[in-house]
Amino acid sequence: MIRLKNEKQINGIRTSCKMLSAMYKELIPLVKPGVQTIEIDMWVRDWIKKAGGRPIFLGYCLKKKPYPAAICISINEEVIHGIPSKRRICEGDLVSLDCGIDLGGFVSDQAVSIEAGKVNSDVKKLNKVTNEALYKAITAVKASERLLQISRAVEGHVKPFGYGIVTEYGGHGVGLALHEDPHIPNIPRGANPKMSNGMVFAIEPMINMGTGKIKVLDDEWTVVTADEKVSAHWEHTVAIFNGQTEVLTEPLEELT
Ligand code: MF3
Ligand code: CO
Repeated sequence: MIRLKNEKQINGIRTSCKMLSAMYKELIPLVKPGVQTIEIDMWVRDWIKKAGGRPIFLGYCLKKKPYPAAICISINEEVIHGIPSKRRICEGDLVSLDCGIDLGGFVSDQAVSIEAGKVNSDVKKLNKVTNEALYKAITAVKASERLLQISRAVEGHVKPFGYGIVTEYGGHGVGLALHEDPHIPNIPRGANPKMSNGMVFAIEPMINMGTGKIKVLDDEWTVVTADEKVSAHWEHTVAIFNGQTEVLTEPLEELT
């Protein structure tokens, strides 16, 4: 069931989104070669706590094992759900960050892919095209249009480059919980409800340099590309309100 949000709820979700983007604006400049990913997680926990929010990924259960950190950090062939560790970021890494905040019951979700130092031009290109796919997808968000227009926009933008689209994971309703209906695939498949006022979505293309196929590591969380080629991930939280589409999280590509 898709939960429609009223004005008060959208205002709460917007505040949560602004907080999350404000965190990223301070965090992204710190994500550099030499930094341990666990240090980033500690920083994020501390920031969110001080800001009065709750890191909603921490302890979240998708399958059995609760997610053990506040932020997902997925490097290179890691697609999503990378667990912070003692691993240090290296020059040339593509570092995807994904985080969400619960602020008084209002939930935000945003992801960015950061180029650490100088990255290969083909990785740069993948990152740019993935970010563009997100914005194409957002232009497809419109009251009375169908949901899979979003998926078509992602696929249509990415396909000419020959990249792989991850199909096992996708966007989702968000705002009063982290994962709400509807599921928003990055290829047009499955349920295709009409979009309407009051809907809030997390839109998140995950695009691979090679195959779209993925596997999950033994840690039960980290999703990696099956061919170990690099993957990029960008995400915004978006609302339809008063017939307008509003991107609630803020653009961050200038910082990445
Ligand atoms: N943006 C991701 C998602 O939608 C993050 C979930 S990570 C988790 O699904 F740990 F919270 F599951
Ligand atoms: Co999400």
